[in-house]
Amino acid sequence: MARFCSFILGGLVALVATFAQFAAARATPADFQTWMQWQSRIAKDRMFRNISPQGTVPGVVIASPSRRDPNYYYHWIRDASLVMETVRVLRDQATGAERAQADAAMMDFVRFSRRNQVTPTSTGLGDPRFNVDGKADYEPWGRPQNDGPALRAIVLTRFAKTLLREGRRDLIEREFYRAELPPQTVVKADLEYIAHNWHLKSFDPWEEIRGHHFFHRAVALSALREGAELAELLGDSAAAEFYLLQARVIESRLANHWSDSKGYYLATLESEAGADHRKPSELDMSVILGVLASDGLSPLHALDGKILATVSALENMFASIYYINKSRPDLGTAFGRYAEDYYFGGNPWILTTAGIAEFHFRVAAELSKRGSYQVSEQAVAFFDSCWPANDPSRPKIRAGDDLLAGGEQVRQRWVRALREKGDGFLRRLHFHANPDGSFSEQYDRNSGAQISAYDLTWSYASFLQAIAARGN
Ligand code: NOJ
Ligand code: NOJ
Repeated sequence: MARFCSFILGGLVALVATFAQFAAARATPADFQTWMQWQSRIAKDRMFRNISPQGTVPGVVIASPSRRDPNYYYHWIRDASLVMETVRVLRDQATGAERAQADAAMMDFVRFSRRNQVTPTSTGLGDPRFNVDGKADYEPWGRPQNDGPALRAIVLTRFAKTLLREGRRDLIEREFYRAELPPQTVVKADLEYIAHNWHLKSFDPWEEIRGHHFFHRAVALSALREGAELAELLGDSAAAEFYLLQARVIESRLANHWSDSKGYYLATLESEAGADHRKPSELDMSVILGVLASDGLSPLHALDGKILATVSALENMFASIYYINKSRPDLGTAFGRYAEDYYFGGNPWILTTAGIAEFHFRVAAELSKRGSYQVSEQAVAFFDSCWPANDPSRPKIRAGDDLLAGGEQVRQRWVRALREKGDGFLRRLHFHANPDGSFSEQYDRNSGAQISAYDLTWSYASFLQAIAARGN
């Protein structure tokens, strides 16, 4: 009898537990801290679900499982590389089975990428996407998109450096980088392609406009600098020198994107936008995404006054164009791609909102490492925006001031303010979250409801990057 009772009881407990799990999975936790943890778990699960899903070649990262309106069931080089960069970051924090899962996913990606490189396409290595069976895509599309090989080189170079430190030189020389030409390994092939083609016009990360893009130049610069370091480590010094030489030229071209009259970096120079994608403002979140993707050895960084000016200009613009920003100004500003955007109605995106949160966490982290920081004229508005306009304790900032003068307490205060501002953007995502924690590509500018491709892999990756940059 006692046995029977405990059997029934056990069954009941299991039932209640299942129900609780079910209920938990369907309700967004109201508490912000709890939500971040809950959302991170869901983002990780759903991101991995889109890596080598059933019915695809191992190494494929689908942009989204959505097969119509829009059809995102492809392996986009840009999306896949940025997603794998998140996997790489998570891998370094993980141990045991989680680390093994990340390593396996990364090696599948390495092999699938090499297969992409040797598959004939209409535009060579700059071809933007592949079918999930590995075949080339011949639909009419904006091509080439030369940011793809650069983003892929960045993640694989960083991963290769980790493996080198872990004593896997054999694996690196077999599958990542060998000096020979023509290249037979994935990173070498990408670096050669970038070094020889970065100066050509290609399509922007939004696949709409031919021209010279800040985003592309930023990631090409980073790929070549980080790649040169790897080449040097592997004894390919002549190549390293060539990559660095190209990087220096790119750096000087990037400077041309600054507009004194507009007060921000222009997304595209010599734009060949057709009538449908004209962008008179040239104010575009892709500039900031370029900075985020090119951490490391890049001269572009989150504390650069001109970058900060671009962030302020973007925030003012998005705050003024989306109804949801006006109806809930207490939450962080919802960020989209650019003002003239009309794709699916032209809305805020998850990945740009998470990206701007990440940016603020990076500024906070940078400041916490510095003893002083001189505020340039261009950066004043950015730091001003970290405090409510009516806050009487708000610090007065003038160009030329050392933001951190006053010591540790002042620094702490700034770090806190920036982290709180960053949290505001995450609170925005919390507010518009789907009850099951899934993220689409966009959320409606008027209703806040999520739209366009569902379960967008890049959305999950961006959220996880923001959380990683936040640090806890
Ligand atoms: C699909 C692209 O990926 C998207 O960025 C663009 O806005 C639309 N096509 C319209 O060209
Ligand atoms: C449209 C975006 O504009 C582009 O950047 C992305 O690669 C594709 N969607 C797939 O997610």
